[in-house]
Amino acid sequence: MTQPELSRDNIVPFIADIFRRRGAESYLGEAVTMSQHMLQGAVLAEREGAAEELVAAALLHDIGHYTSEFGTLSLGDVRDNYHEEAGAAVLERFFPAVITECVRLHVPAKRYLCATDPAYYNQLSEASKHTLSLQGGPMSKEEVAEFERNPYYQEAVRVRIWDDAGKDPAMATPDFDHYVPLLERVIQRAG
Ligand SMILES: [Fe+2]
Repeated sequence: MTQPELSRDNIVPFIADIFRRRGAESYLGEAVTMSQHMLQGAVLAEREGAAEELVAAALLHDIGHYTSEFGTLSLGDVRDNYHEEAGAAVLERFFPAVITECVRLHVPAKRYLCATDPAYYNQLSEASKHTLSLQGGPMSKEEVAEFERNPYYQEAVRVRIWDDAGKDPAMATPDFDHYVPLLERVIQRAG
């Protein structure tokens, strides 16, 4: 299949199509599908009254597992420890920096929280505890200081917390189409 030329005009339907075709795939080691997981993150962000950019970041944070759809061959599809960079790379042409940074930092944010919040590690899912070691374990003091120099680190931490909470098989969500107008608005605002 030939790739469409992606632009600000068709990126949202393109992502919607990925959710539709591939959202039912399992989220490794979790009791929810990939689309349930990402939609739950968005719902949790909305419930907190977060900015639309952060709702979008929660919704798209794991898009890096589907980067082959964007025509880029990437380890992010198969190797958990690259999907955050891969996801940010495919989104950055269309979405504002706050979103792409939250996507890029969602794995470092977990390592950050493990280093700075003793209660955080214990509430992680078993699968998430397992991947932590593959992802480098808790941050060192130096890494914590470096992370806090990122202007979006606090937003990335919020997205991470919704990410962790969005693994509930009993939680209902609207479908992806509910978020299409919101995604179009954040792209518009990014100018
Ligand atoms: Fe996630």
